[in-house]
Amino acid sequence: MLLLALESSCDETAAAVVRDGKEVLANLIASQVDLHAAYGGVVPELASRRHLEVINPLVSEALDKAGVKREDLEGVVVTRGPGLVGALLVGVSFAKAFAYACQVPLVGVHHIEGHILAIQLEQQVDYPFLAVAVSGGHTHLFRVDGIGRYRLLGRTVDDAAGEAFDKVAKMLQLGYPGGPIIDRLAAQGDDGGIVFPRPMLKKANFDFSFSGMKTAVLNHLHSLGAAPDEAQTAQIAAAFQTAAVDVITQKALRAAEAEGLTRIVVAGGVACNSGLRQKFARLAEQKALHIYFPSPILCADNAAMLAVAGDYYLTRGLSSGLDLNAVSSWPLEEAANF
Ligand code: KG4
Ligand code: ZN
Repeated sequence: MLLLALESSCDETAAAVVRDGKEVLANLIASQVDLHAAYGGVVPELASRRHLEVINPLVSEALDKAGVKREDLEGVVVTRGPGLVGALLVGVSFAKAFAYACQVPLVGVHHIEGHILAIQLEQQVDYPFLAVAVSGGHTHLFRVDGIGRYRLLGRTVDDAAGEAFDKVAKMLQLGYPGGPIIDRLAAQGDDGGIVFPRPMLKKANFDFSFSGMKTAVLNHLHSLGAAPDEAQTAQIAAAFQTAAVDVITQKALRAAEAEGLTRIVVAGGVACNSGLRQKFARLAEQKALHIYFPSPILCADNAAMLAVAGDYYLTRGLSSGLDLNAVSSWPLEEAANF
């Protein structure tokens, strides 16, 4: 099945053409980072307007790049939620109009379902596996028994991991989005002996908390009495990343062990983090687990990732109607309920 995939849940407009939920013919991303950088975060109204401006030309470009004509397409898959509702509505409305005009079926899928299944575009990962979904809006652990079969094991009780990276970067006046900048500074390898707390690690559940870690960074900054210099900034970034990576990896390993899972898929924007990749790889080797990370382009927001679930649902006749609506919050466990 030849699918057009569309993603507009936050600050990236993305369009992809994917065959059989596997072969990526085009995967284009129009980032709005420059637009929002001046505000230190995503401004929802600006995001919606930019999506509206770029979605049509982006889809044409994706079709050209894939060497595909509109009439060749056999279906459309779009992110239905969760995300910024105005931003989602642009993708959902465009997808409905496009599917209607081309007379092909349409399916709305969950953004995190896309992230978790993105790995299947690059290599086959057998079910069941533990999914570690770490992004700007999520820090969730799921047991995945197949497409559409997700069970929540643990989640953040406050900030998402990516959100914490972005907020700490903001405190350090490093710019937006902060995750990649902190990653770069942490790679210098010197944490100056600073140790930030690892919240919830002593708790027996698989939940996370990042707000205490963030407050510890703020308290440390206040204790300096003056703005940190370049070396101190890098040390704080390194110490924060080590603490965040520690909590994510340890909770994930415990969850995998409790569920008897030997495969772990790490997904979402924070899965680009080099410290997280290294630590997971090391621990997985020690524990004889298989650990999977998609390529960075498939970790961050993109549309190709949606085509794995999209192809699966549409080939089984599971589609959405033209009354499909965007939803800002939507638990993944309910994602396969059409
Ligand atoms: O999945 P994603 O692109 O969008 C959402 O669904 O939220 O994730 C974006 C998040 C941002 O918070 C960004 O700072 C973070 O992923 N991120 C990183 C890295 N690259 C992106 N965090 C840590 N290290 C990175 N290298
Ligand atoms: Zn995402």
